Amino acid sequence: MTAAPPLPGRYAEVHAASLADPEAFWMGAAAGIDWAVPPRRAFDPEAGAYGRWFPEGRLNACHNAVDRHVAAGRGAQAAILHDSPVTGTKRRITYAELQDEVATLAAVLADLGVGPGDRVILYMPMVPEALVGMLACARIGAVHSVVFGGFAANELAVRIEDASPKVVLAASCGIEPSRVVAYKPLLDAAIAASRHKPEACLILQRPRCAAGLVPGRDRDWAEAVAAARAAGRRAECVPMRATDPLYILYTSGTTGKPKGVVRDTGGYLVALAWSMPNLYDVHPGEVYFCASDIGWVVGHSYIVYAPLLIGCTTVLYEGKPVGTPDAGAFWRVVAEHGVACLFTAPTALRAIKKEDPRGERVGGYDLARFRTLFLAGERADPDSVAWAERTLGRPVIDHWWQTETGWPIAGNPVGLGQLPVKHGSTCVPMPGYDVRVLDEGGRPVGPDTMGTIAIRLPLPPGCLPTLWGSDARFAQSYLTTFPGYYDTSDAGVIDRDGYITVLGRTDDIINVAGHRLSTGGMEAVLASHPDVAECAVIGIRDSLKGEAPCGFVVLKADVARDPGEIERELVALVRDRIGPVAAFKLALTVNRLPKTRSGKILRGTMKRIADHEPWTLPPTIDDAAVLDEIGESLRARGIGEPG
Ligand code: COA
Ligand code: AMP
Repeated sequence: MTAAPPLPGRYAEVHAASLADPEAFWMGAAAGIDWAVPPRRAFDPEAGAYGRWFPEGRLNACHNAVDRHVAAGRGAQAAILHDSPVTGTKRRITYAELQDEVATLAAVLADLGVGPGDRVILYMPMVPEALVGMLACARIGAVHSVVFGGFAANELAVRIEDASPKVVLAASCGIEPSRVVAYKPLLDAAIAASRHKPEACLILQRPRCAAGLVPGRDRDWAEAVAAARAAGRRAECVPMRATDPLYILYTSGTTGKPKGVVRDTGGYLVALAWSMPNLYDVHPGEVYFCASDIGWVVGHSYIVYAPLLIGCTTVLYEGKPVGTPDAGAFWRVVAEHGVACLFTAPTALRAIKKEDPRGERVGGYDLARFRTLFLAGERADPDSVAWAERTLGRPVIDHWWQTETGWPIAGNPVGLGQLPVKHGSTCVPMPGYDVRVLDEGGRPVGPDTMGTIAIRLPLPPGCLPTLWGSDARFAQSYLTTFPGYYDTSDAGVIDRDGYITVLGRTDDIINVAGHRLSTGGMEAVLASHPDVAECAVIGIRDSLKGEAPCGFVVLKADVARDPGEIERELVALVRDRIGPVAAFKLALTVNRLPKTRSGKILRGTMKRIADHEPWTLPPTIDDAAVLDEIGESLRARGIGEPG
């Protein structure tokens, strides 16, 4: 067997150094951050579940993202470019203006009693005030938790109850191309449903939809800020411990209860600051456009913190890849704002490609400053990657990460010298990530052999130290399956060049349009319908969204109602309880669910039938007719065929 040829560029040397001497590597990277008290060491292996990063350091995230740039002469540079095709508005906010807005809002929060360690929930659309809100929390050491606007009141209630925020920051509405989403009624319903009641809500009134305010609890955002400004109130940055939480971000777990991923301050800022020049090849003063949402981890890291940390201009885009107004929307933004790097999800590319297959809209724009397209959030299908390469004439880089890790686990480090692109692969591990593929017994497998992807502990800076309020759930979810490793719950392979290919989840999480959703959570909603005896939800292949949820339900024996009517109720119920983001459009009533003799539902076989993949009758099942019925019910809706 011949050894794989060495990789070009500095990557191999840098990655090896990060694993051989993590202290030296991360202390070096920590120099990219301003510290109030510099760390004396990078890592304390005795603290926390697997150690803690930069234990003695003190710093403030808002100072690093805003104030230090103003002090260094970037005050007049744009920090945020808000580009909102859904409202037809654009706004440029300089670093000096951002500093003023953040310091004032931070004073409003402090006047509402918010102090270091207190939680603040944000339920906001893609408006600059949302970023100001996050940074204002960071400024005074409060822990923010942003809830994506596409979640329903019930999901918001669960997060309010778990995070127990002192204050909620919300906007009156979000604006989707097809409708105005009134957030305030959802917020009111969530607070009513939650056992924890926030002391105050600060409501940003948007012109499209004014919200009624609850006396004694709700305040008008603009009035509160104006009053603080008139009184000359400003809050300064509070130095926090590097190990203090900066935010909590909830993500789907295998049960209906979301996991509150905790992000610490020091390790996160160090990792993000390292990633900008070395992975993305983006530098101070350049324009970075991450077309995600602040409700997701990608938005936290690459709309808000990373670009601002290094003094870039971040584009805050309130629109869609298509329909606002057309499939040239991203290229228009890239050209108009001189974007150097665009980061989006493969779903967005598929949506653009569907409407503009020949990429004709690209030609109308001057993309001279645009260098690289990055993709993440779901598997990047080789067709879409090849289409984007041809259409844009730029490198298209897939990279892999999770809410839990906060920054990429694997990618192609363009700033260290781009490695050859292999379609379908997310390339190589980033510094500090010692990635292995393990078999079911936890033994590392050889190259090109599929298994569970795991990361040898300790996790690098930036990754979660625990789950909010639940060290035990953290350990049980991630650290117990393979002792000494973090279990990513992703299956995949590593090839002879060290390239990682992610093949899909090993749990019941599905990925719909780059959004991570729990089928278990949807099953819990379906099971709550009075006519449903049992149910199973699977993710079936979807040419636009990657996967789409599909629910099979067995009705109780005495139900005589029209099944079609019940199916419509179930679709509405999931939308009402989880939210439109679940994109749950397909509920199918069947007489039985296929099960093994021990009662386990054969979700994998059902998925293969729906996805037109070959399947065989599992030996543990007695009656093939039940699988035929699944195939029939799918075919009746134009989906799947038996193998
Ligand atoms: N607030 C309220 N509702 C929202 C919302 C928000 N912030 N975001 C999405 N929704 C709603 C949508 O309006 C839609 O509702 P509908 O059922 O009434 O049509 C539903 O949630 C599903 O939204 P989505 O999955 O975004 O589908 P879409 O059909 O509106 O758009 C794409 C399709 C491909 C354009 C879109 O999915 C997209 O841009 N995906 C990229 C995702 C991404 O960047 N993910 C981040 C991971 S890196
Ligand atoms: P989230 O926590 O929402 O970021 O979702 C994380 C999950 O999305 C991962 O565990 C993967 O299953 C999937 N994922 C993210 N990026 C990629 C990628 N580049 N390729 C394949 N799957 C990905």
